[in-house]
Amino acid sequence: MLSKKLQNQLNDQVNFEFFSAYLYLSMAAYAESIDLSGFANFFRIQFQEEQFHAMRFYDYIFQKEGTVELEAIAKPDIRFENMLNVFEKSFEHEKIVTSRIYKLADTATEEKEHATLSLLNWFIDEQVEEENKFNSMLKRVKRSENNPAALYMMDDELAARVYTPPVIA
Ligand SMILES: [Fe+2]
Ligand SMILES: [Fe+2]
Repeated sequence: MLSKKLQNQLNDQVNFEFFSAYLYLSMAAYAESIDLSGFANFFRIQFQEEQFHAMRFYDYIFQKEGTVELEAIAKPDIRFENMLNVFEKSFEHEKIVTSRIYKLADTATEEKEHATLSLLNWFIDEQVEEENKFNSMLKRVKRSENNPAALYMMDDELAARVYTPPVIA
């Protein structure tokens, strides 16, 4: 059984992961609107990854005999100046996600909830990858700032990205 505090915090994270999904879908829509369909593909896959995260928390709450209460998903940012701005915002967003996962791990540690810590360890590792992915994309987009050809090359490359759901042991 989960404590009320931990259940509420996990429940909030279900919502936040769906918000992340929605934010990335908004970024996909922006990329589509400026004809960067490779970047749009990248963010559509990110949209799927975030839904997978939400469902991991969702399933876990039920495994621990808790209940999930779905809340309204906040309206995501819909205005972006350019792709650089999109990656600045997405990298900042992933840092917020990391701090939320850490707060969850703090609560689970206080409560000696080892099973929840084990779930959160997966997310802690995942956040290292997520931050790294967005940071390196941000750096690449920054370098292509005055070089549209480089941005289009990146767009071609990103068009080939495919979604593969992670294998959970
Ligand atoms: Fe996530
Ligand atoms: Fe993420």
